[in-house]
Amino acid sequence: MNAITKLHPATPIEELRVPQHLHYNWEYDATRSQLMRLYENAKRDQWNATQRLDWSVDVDPGKGLVPDFGIGIYCTPIWARLSKAQIEKLRHEAITWQLCQFLHGEQGALLATAQIVDSVPWYEAKQYGATQVMDEARHVEVYRRFVQEKLGHEYPVNSELKKLLDLILTDSRWDMKFLGMQIIVEGLALAAFGTIRDTATNPLLRDLTAAVMEDEARHVAFGVLSLREYCRDLPEKDRLEREDFVYEACVLMRDRISNREVWEAMGLDPEECIAFSDRSEMARQFRYRLFSKIVPNVKSLGLLSPKQRERFEALGILEFETNTTSDVDQELEEERRVREGQSPAIGA
Ligand SMILES: [Fe+2]
Ligand SMILES: [Fe+2]
Repeated sequence: MNAITKLHPATPIEELRVPQHLHYNWEYDATRSQLMRLYENAKRDQWNATQRLDWSVDVDPGKGLVPDFGIGIYCTPIWARLSKAQIEKLRHEAITWQLCQFLHGEQGALLATAQIVDSVPWYEAKQYGATQVMDEARHVEVYRRFVQEKLGHEYPVNSELKKLLDLILTDSRWDMKFLGMQIIVEGLALAAFGTIRDTATNPLLRDLTAAVMEDEARHVAFGVLSLREYCRDLPEKDRLEREDFVYEACVLMRDRISNREVWEAMGLDPEECIAFSDRSEMARQFRYRLFSKIVPNVKSLGLLSPKQRERFEALGILEFETNTTSDVDQELEEERRVREGQSPAIGA
C-alpha cells in the first residue's frame, strides 16, 4: 500500500477544556461482586493484536469486504446507474468511512473511559474501568492499523459522532459518560460489529471484529451494571434530564448513518442518495437494527417513560423495547457468549 492519504484538518491535535470531578476512594470496598467478576474476566481475556491477528491477509476493498446490502443506495436506481469501476470505488469508500468512524469512536471511548476511572466514586468501577482503558487503546490500534495498512486513506470524524463525543467528554457527571459511551455509542457499536463479524468475507476484518466484540460486550455490561444501581434512586428532574440526553444522542447517531461524506466522495448527489436510502426498506432495516441493543437497555435503566416511548416511536426504534431482556445476568451471559464465539442475542 502506498503512503496514506490524510484527509484530516490542518490541525490534527485538538484541545478541549473539560470540567472534571475526580473522586478518590479510600475505602477499597469490593462488595459490588458483579463488577469485580467483570474485572476478573477482563484481566483473563486481554489479547495482543500483534499476535492474535494475521496481518499478512490480503485485503481488496474493491471486491467488497462485507456484503453490499450495508450500502444505503444498494438496489436503488442510483446503484443501477453505476459502472463496475464506480461500484468498486463505492465499496472502498463505504468500508473506509465506516472503519474510520469506528476508529474515531474508539478514540472517544479511550478518552471517556479514562475520565470515568477518575470520576466514578466506586472502587470496583475504577478497577474495571482501568481494564477498559487498555481495551480501547487496543481497539484504536487495530482500526488504525487496518485503515492505514489495508485501505490507504482516511475519513475525518463524522460531525454528529464528534458532537456526541464532545457532549460525553465535556459533561462533568460520571453517569452521563456511562450513558453516552457505554449505553449509546457502545450499544450501537456492538450491533454494527455483530453484522460485520457475521457477514464479512475478508478473514482479517472478521477476526478483528470478533476480537473487539469480546471486549465490547463486557463494556456494555459495565455500563448497565453501574447505571442500574445509580438510576434506581434518581429524583424525577434528574431522570428526565437523562432521558433527554439519551434521546438527543439517539438522534445524533441516526443522522450519523446517512453516509453523506461517502456520497460526496463518490461525486454523487448526497441529497438524492440520502432520499433513496431513506426510502429503501433494506437500508432502513439495516440502520434501525443498530438501535436494537440500546432501547432495551434504556428501558432497563428506567429511562423509557411514556414521553420517551413516543419519541422513540417517532424515531422508528421503539419496536426494539421488547427485543432483548436486559437483566444484568443476561448481559453477563451475553458477554460470555460473545467470548466463546457464539452469536450475541442482539439484533438477531
Ligand atoms: Fe472499543
Ligand atoms: Fe468499548
